[in-house]
Amino acid sequence: MSYAIDFSDQHVFVVGGTSGINLGIAKGFAQAGAKLSVLSRSQEKVDSAVSVLSGFGQQAVGYSADVRDYEAVKRAFVLAHEIQGNIDVLVSGAAGNFPAALLGMSSNGFRAVIDIDLIGTFHVLRTAHQFLKKPGASVINISAPQAFVPAPLQAHVCAAKAGVDMLTRVCALEWGADGIRVNSLVPGPIEGTEGMARLAPTPEILEAVRNSVPLGRLGQSEDIAKAALALASPFGEFVNGAVIPVDGGWALQGFGDMMDKLSHAFRGRDE
Ligand code: NAP
Ligand code: COA
Repeated sequence: MSYAIDFSDQHVFVVGGTSGINLGIAKGFAQAGAKLSVLSRSQEKVDSAVSVLSGFGQQAVGYSADVRDYEAVKRAFVLAHEIQGNIDVLVSGAAGNFPAALLGMSSNGFRAVIDIDLIGTFHVLRTAHQFLKKPGASVINISAPQAFVPAPLQAHVCAAKAGVDMLTRVCALEWGADGIRVNSLVPGPIEGTEGMARLAPTPEILEAVRNSVPLGRLGQSEDIAKAALALASPFGEFVNGAVIPVDGGWALQGFGDMMDKLSHAFRGRDE
């Protein structure tokens, strides 16, 4: 029985793996010996991520595609499979967010986030299954506390990520027989990311967030990478269908002060 965190020669595909938390996860796997595939819209970000990931010594490839475009997602997975082989670990983390009250959101604005986070995740799961190692693959969907903590200015993300966690649970049921595990990781507030820049745009709001984390600090991308590696490793081999917060205990007490402050900053922007 091996308990090593060693992904040598394994193929890890990180959707949305070109910046922030997802790139941090991709780097973690690359440092543990994996060959990486990444996908996101911006060719520039894809090229930069591939260059960084290749620096860890294994082959990395990347594709420019929008997860809202099912055919484009399929093309990317076919190409990645030809080069890197079956997928041992799939991380699905492409997402969009902006703070807006429900009454300040157009139909297209609400739909944009549902399309990227929820339908995009479906496109990724639907396409990836045929290329996953059976038995043995680990699928990690990147969720958010909004999936179970209702937050003002976040109707679209709350609805989308709650849907993502249900996709996790349904796929865990349907794919267990193939020997594929499917789980969600739920990052807390992660310092230096686009998500935090959007939800905590002032030093005052960021400080309120920091003070509301029971462990007394903001998370780092490495915190999420460590959890992803552990979950995909033999340490996680009986974990299936779980939604796992990695947030220093933050979500236990809701968004509280942070969203009050953000709502205050947005007052008057409805309609
Ligand atoms: P980020 O850097 O903006 O990461 C989002 C990634 O998804 C980027 O690589 C982006 O690249 C890609 N992407 C966005 N829209 C896409 C689309 N339509 N098709 C394909 N790729 C797309 O943000 P982050 O803050 O690190 O968030 C990463 C994940 O963690 C998200 O799932 C988010 O919901 C979750 N999360 C974040 C926090 C936080 O504190 N930041 C907390 C909880 C959960 P392109 O722009 O090139 O497409
Ligand atoms: N408030 C209200 N509505 C907003 C908005 C805001 N701050 N930002 C965008 N929208 C609306 C737009 O007005 C548009 O609706 P409309 O056509 O009725 O005007 C709709 O959202 C789509 O915007 P668009 O810019 O065309 O979408 P896009 O597909 O180019 O980008 C987003 C998608 C909006 C989610 C964009 O923020 C994005 O690409 N985000 C990725 C990065 C990210 O969010 N990272 C954090 C992850 S947690």
